[in-house]
Amino acid sequence: MLTSSSAQLFYFDEDTTYLDHGGYGATPREVMSAYIEECQKVEEAPRPFFEFDFYNTWQQHAAMVAQRFSAQAEDLALTNNATDGLNAVLRSTPLQSDDEILITSWTYGAIANAARYMARRQGARVIEAPFHYPNPNPEQCLEALKAAITPRTKIAIVDHITSATALVLPIEKMVQLCHEYNVAVLVDGAHVPGQLSLDLQTIHADWYVANLHKWYFVPRGCGFLWAGKQRQIELVPSVLSWDIEKPFPHSFEWIGTRDPSTWLSIPAAFNFMDHLGENNVRQHNHTLIKEGAALLAKAWHISSTTPASMTGSMILVPLPADINFPATDEGRRKLQMLLWNSYKIACPCILYGNKLYIRISAQIYNKAADYEKLAQAISAIKKA
Ligand SMILES: Cc1ncc(COP(=O)(O)O)c(C=O)c1O
Repeated sequence: MLTSSSAQLFYFDEDTTYLDHGGYGATPREVMSAYIEECQKVEEAPRPFFEFDFYNTWQQHAAMVAQRFSAQAEDLALTNNATDGLNAVLRSTPLQSDDEILITSWTYGAIANAARYMARRQGARVIEAPFHYPNPNPEQCLEALKAAITPRTKIAIVDHITSATALVLPIEKMVQLCHEYNVAVLVDGAHVPGQLSLDLQTIHADWYVANLHKWYFVPRGCGFLWAGKQRQIELVPSVLSWDIEKPFPHSFEWIGTRDPSTWLSIPAAFNFMDHLGENNVRQHNHTLIKEGAALLAKAWHISSTTPASMTGSMILVPLPADINFPATDEGRRKLQMLLWNSYKIACPCILYGNKLYIRISAQIYNKAADYEKLAQAISAIKKA
């Protein structure tokens, strides 16, 4: 159950204030123990595991993930992470010169880079739909997306929850809109499992990539790629290996020798989540993040413009205008380092549109006092 001592379920030092679950996740102790155990079990006899057990266990664990997110096992492959899944899709989707990949102003940087690289190599281009921030608005996102679609748009990459701006987007409507114009849609759901209730069948995307190592408590290096039936034929992993002639998702099983312990720990992470209750976790985090943002807004005399309908378990909050750090990448990094080195607060500072922000997350180990500590630290830094 969620208690005031939930932080003890993790590895944080007592004096650490961890407000960045959205960054790299954090693995609970009991899941980490299961991970180490799985690792050791494989080490007891690597050859029989890889020769006799690998395929069965991969399939069982992938099926478990599919079931959890309301998908069919034959439509889902385990991947190392969301970037891995995205790369597989982009590399398997040939473009003609002058074709367009549609992204948005909020697309995660690494994903935008991959899209630009793949477009450039094929003489295609990337078009960015301008989404407004601050004062984000789902309708504006839909309008901007619609306005950016052209007869050359071959694939749209849209976020279900954005990274830097930390916003929940109207994903079903975005997918529907793209399909009205015959544009295939890849949904980046890196932050979604564990932050929102996820039913892969109802989104109707062409592809959906996600991480389990962010908000679902699986150790780092575990995600999945879901593909609609009509998109599976040419789909191969980004690392070409023994299984590429097999049909999806079996083509993703053996992609070179790698450590299976992350996906072998999926049952332990699912048990951890189920013991707490996924609904309870999401509700706790959603309530706490709104409380945390309100607390910072009051302390710093700023207003946060993120609507509750676009909020999951993270939020971007503007830093006070008179913070004595320049709105540059260097200023952002220095402030983030100062928060960690002097206050043991881990929280990403973000430069967005020539302004400095801080992105806070809420997870079961957080409490209102954590955001108070952040508020006080920033006030102290301002006075220094
Ligand atoms: C929206 C979004 N997409 C993709 C990624 C990439 O995730 P990974 O590095 O685990 O592949 C991130 C990482 O934070 C993200 O925030």
